[in-house]
Amino acid sequence: MSNSPFHTVTIAGATGNVGYAIAEAFLNDGSYNVKILRRKLDENEKAKSLNSKGAEIVYADHSQKDDLVKALKGTDVFVSAVFESSNNTSLYDIQVSFLLAAKEASVKRFIPSEFSNGYKTTGHVFNDEKFRFREELEKSGLEYTYIHTGLFQEFFGWFGYDVKNKKAKFYGDGNTKIPSTSLSDIGKYTVETLKIPEARNAHIRVIGAYLTLNEYLQKFEEATGSKWEVIEDRDVRYRFKNKIDPIPSMSDDFIAFVTENSNFPEYDNDKFSFTPQPVTKVIETLVSQA
Ligand SMILES: NC(=O)c1ccc[n+]([C@@H]2O[C@H](COP(=O)([O-])OP(=O)(O)OC[C@H]3O[C@@H](n4cnc5c(N)ncnc54)[C@H](OP(=O)(O)O)[C@@H]3O)[C@@H](O)[C@H]2O)c1
Repeated sequence: MSNSPFHTVTIAGATGNVGYAIAEAFLNDGSYNVKILRRKLDENEKAKSLNSKGAEIVYADHSQKDDLVKALKGTDVFVSAVFESSNNTSLYDIQVSFLLAAKEASVKRFIPSEFSNGYKTTGHVFNDEKFRFREELEKSGLEYTYIHTGLFQEFFGWFGYDVKNKKAKFYGDGNTKIPSTSLSDIGKYTVETLKIPEARNAHIRVIGAYLTLNEYLQKFEEATGSKWEVIEDRDVRYRFKNKIDPIPSMSDDFIAFVTENSNFPEYDNDKFSFTPQPVTKVIETLVSQA
């Protein structure tokens, strides 16, 4: 029997990286009616899989408020796990549409698309959109929880750990500490925030591991049984801003931003009932898949 005051959870972005893990965790928990909000009726393997595990799939035109309100009726908790990196819509705009509809549909708690490093500073477009949305959410009167998780461990490859070529690229000092969490643990943490009183209207920071870039590298070296080459590229942000060759991509600039701003001064793991899995579990999977 659940001790959560909530019964129905709707997740937008459940066909994505973190949204899928969150939806799976709610289904595994077994205490909630789980709905997946999608934009269009297309074939999607992840949506099919969640549906086969018990999630109801609901569709809504996100530009039509009435459509969204109808889709969110009966929802106690709305989780936004969307991400939009095209130039057509901003994450801020998408989430404001969700918020207006959630308020009208009497949703009780809104968990926005954060799942990042909980930066206190603005300074990157991906981050600034989230900051702007926090202001709207706090004005809305809905309950909220910001969940900060550090780097997704499944994204180590994107972050510079190239298993295939046994090369690591650091966008800063190798002694920089980076928090990281596996997607499955992020799912479990998200579910459990609903049962933790301190998570109401609060920032929750959780971590699976909090190691330096060099320490993660050592774990990759152990898992592959070989020494890796390391490249340090320390002025990415400066070159990106001033368009100096070789001009970094937006993604590289973001990695450099994350490297500079990934400080979790304190975290909330002890408020949760479980211990996250060792980081070596994801590292070994990444190595076996390369
Ligand atoms: N900490 C990290 O390492 C890390 C890494 C990546 C992302 N993140 C963060 O995690 C969050 C989710 O990112 P993700 O990578 O999991 O997302 P994603 O896989 O790129 O996309 C999630 C879903 O968003 C929906 N979506 C895309 N465009 C949309 C739009 N215009 N309107 C409404 N829905 C749209 C899609 O669902 P449907 O097609 O089903 O509608 C899509 O499957 C973001 O806040 C992102 O910044 C963190």
